[in-house]
Amino acid sequence: MEKRIYNFAAGPAILPEPVLKEAQEQLWALPGVGMSILEISHRSKTFDKIIAEAKEGLKSLLNISDDYELLFLQGGASLQFSMVPLNLMINKKADYIVTGSWSKKAVKEAKRVGTVNIAASTEDGNFKRIPKQEELKLDPQADYVHFTSNNTIFGTEWHKEPEVGNVPLVCDASSDILHKKIDVNKYALIYAGAQKNMGPSGVTFVIIRKDMLERSSDSLHTMLNYKIHVENNSLYNTPNTFGIYIIALVAKWLKNLGGLDAMYKINKEKADVLYKCIDESGGYYKGHADKDSRSLMNITFNLATEELEKKLVSEATAAGFDGLKGHRSVGGLRASIYNAFPKKGVDDLVSFMKDFQRKNG
Ligand SMILES: Cc1ncc(COP(=O)(O)O)c(C=O)c1O
Repeated sequence: MEKRIYNFAAGPAILPEPVLKEAQEQLWALPGVGMSILEISHRSKTFDKIIAEAKEGLKSLLNISDDYELLFLQGGASLQFSMVPLNLMINKKADYIVTGSWSKKAVKEAKRVGTVNIAASTEDGNFKRIPKQEELKLDPQADYVHFTSNNTIFGTEWHKEPEVGNVPLVCDASSDILHKKIDVNKYALIYAGAQKNMGPSGVTFVIIRKDMLERSSDSLHTMLNYKIHVENNSLYNTPNTFGIYIIALVAKWLKNLGGLDAMYKINKEKADVLYKCIDESGGYYKGHADKDSRSLMNITFNLATEELEKKLVSEATAAGFDGLKGHRSVGGLRASIYNAFPKKGVDDLVSFMKDFQRKNG
C-alpha cells in the first residue's frame, strides 16, 4: 500500500485513517447492498439510512435539540455567505464581526441584500486577534449577528462565542466545527464546509433553529431557500451522497473516540506542543496570533526572513510534512492540525523545527 505522509493542509484536509479504510473496503459494494455508495440512488432506502446516520451522529455529538434542523447542502461555505442574508435578513440589517478574509467575504455578499453594520473588525494589525466583548458595537435591532469562529488563514479562534442578547447568532464554523463541544442553543444558525473536520469537500453542514425558517420567503429561488431544503430532508436535488456517507463515518469515528470532550483534550494537547515550541524558540519562530486568540486548528507562524521560511517549507516537504506554506496574507507557515491529525505528526514536526533552528539559528 502507498505510504501516507503528514498532511498539514488547511482544507481539504486529513481524514481519520479508520474512515478512509472503511470507505475503501466498502467502495466496491456496500455490505448487503451489492453497489457502491458512488452508484446508489439518493432516493434509495440505503441512502435514507446513511443520511439518517449522519444526522443522528452529528446531533448526538453536538447535543443538538429538536428545536433545530440539520442540512447537507452544496455550494460550499461560500454559498452560505449569500443564503444567510437572503433568508434571514428580513429587516435588511445585520451585524458582522470581521476577524479575517472569510468574514470579509461574508460581508461582501450580505451587502448585496441589506445594510451591514461592522460590529467590530481586527483588520488593523492584520487580524492577529479576536475582539473583546466590550469592543462589539452591536445593534439590538439587527436581524442577526454573524461571526467566524475560527479564522483558517490567520490562525485565530473565538474561545467563547460573542454575547449578543436576543439577536440571533449566526456562525461560520467551517474550520473548527466538531473540535470541541459547543452550546448549540446559543446559536440561530451554524454552517460549515465539511472539508476540514467533517469529510470531503462538496458538502456544507447547516444547523438551523426551526423558528428561523419562518423568515425564508417563498419568493426566494428554490435552491437558496432553507425551508425547501428542510422540507425535503436535504434531498430536493441530488446531494453529495459520497460526502454525506463520509460524514456519517467521521461521526462514528468521533463517537468511538469518546465524543467531543475527548477530541478537545487531544486537540488541546496537540496545539500546546506546537505553541510551546514556538514560544520557547527565543523568538526564532514568531506566532502570528495573540496568545489569547490562538487557534487550536490552524497554527500560523513566521521566521525572521522569507528566505528562511522558504527553506523550512522546502526541507519540511522533502521530509514528509506537506502543506505547511502559509497563506499569502500572513506568509510564513501554517500547520493545520484538525481533529484527524495525529499527535505523533505534531511531535515529529516539533523535532524537525528544533533541528532546523539548531542548524539555521
Ligand atoms: C472559515 C471559512 N469559511 C469559509 C470558507 C469557504 O469555504 P468553501 O470553499 O467551502 O466555500 C473557508 C475555506 O477555507 C473557511 O476556512
